[in-house]
Amino acid sequence: MTTNYHVATGRFEGRSALVTGGANGLGYACAARMAAEGATVGLIDLKQDAVDSAVKRLQEQGHTAFGYAADVTDEAAIKAATADFNTQAGSVDVLVTMAGIFPWVDFAEMTLEQWRQVVDVNLGGTFTAAHAAMPFMKQQQYGRIVTISSGTVMLGLPGQSAYIASKNGIIGFTRVLAREGGPHGVTANCVLPGLIATEHVLTMREDTDEFIGQTVAFQCVPRRGEPADIADAVAYLGSEGSAFVTGQQLYVGGGDRFV
Ligand SMILES: NC(=O)c1ccc[n+]([C@@H]2O[C@H](COP(=O)([O-])OP(=O)(O)OC[C@H]3O[C@@H](n4cnc5c(N)ncnc54)[C@H](O)[C@@H]3O)[C@@H](O)[C@H]2O)c1
Repeated sequence: MTTNYHVATGRFEGRSALVTGGANGLGYACAARMAAEGATVGLIDLKQDAVDSAVKRLQEQGHTAFGYAADVTDEAAIKAATADFNTQAGSVDVLVTMAGIFPWVDFAEMTLEQWRQVVDVNLGGTFTAAHAAMPFMKQQQYGRIVTISSGTVMLGLPGQSAYIASKNGIIGFTRVLAREGGPHGVTANCVLPGLIATEHVLTMREDTDEFIGQTVAFQCVPRRGEPADIADAVAYLGSEGSAFVTGQQLYVGGGDRFV
């Protein structure tokens, strides 16, 4: 089931949107959604072949898309990709920091190296992308930064200590971006996805069907969360129409819990 029956046309006409983790899952859905509404999009992701095929899919649908194979923990590579996108697209109007990893490791078994990797990609990668985009946004006195946390921050799931620590950090970080960006026309908001059926999520656990079923049972909206649900929320916060909303967190999870 998708929810694109209410796609507004032209909302991102003349705008550009850069999405980290944009080759797959929720990142791709957000890029495709904004492209469908007129945005020139840039995808940053780890693997060249995944980036190329995502860009090709968008171009085949008639959209303007650029791709960058870069690791969000590599500050120089993210700065270079962002600068190139600014040149190609003429601006960096929207940044979506979707790149993230969520390995399941019990705290007792977790090494410091594993902890650092999760925090470095999820929280550090949000820093590098925002740090690279903010100067362009300040210069043009316009920007929309949408960071990605997770509904798990309200649950404290076993096996997700580093992940939940990193995703809580992103909420606090976003509030500071909102404070510093506000005087320059830059908003920053955080989307907290609930359990959303991306390919990664559908294959990450042996009991995925049961896991999704249990979650859906608690939701006010009794159906599985789809990538389009997150794309809808991100597109709103990435649009001009969210100008007076900043520093906020938006939980998108069918109402199984309330923020
Ligand atoms: N799907 C869900 O249920 C859910 C729920 C809550 C939060 N989230 C968050 O949403 C985001 C996307 O989740 P998804 O389900 O689409 O996962 P996904 O694995 O399909 O997508 C994540 C993307 O990030 C990329 N990536 C990972 N490490 C990277 C790095 N170092 N540099 C650049 N790119 C990197 C991956 O290659 C992948 O394309 C993640 O941040 C995740 O924590 C997802």
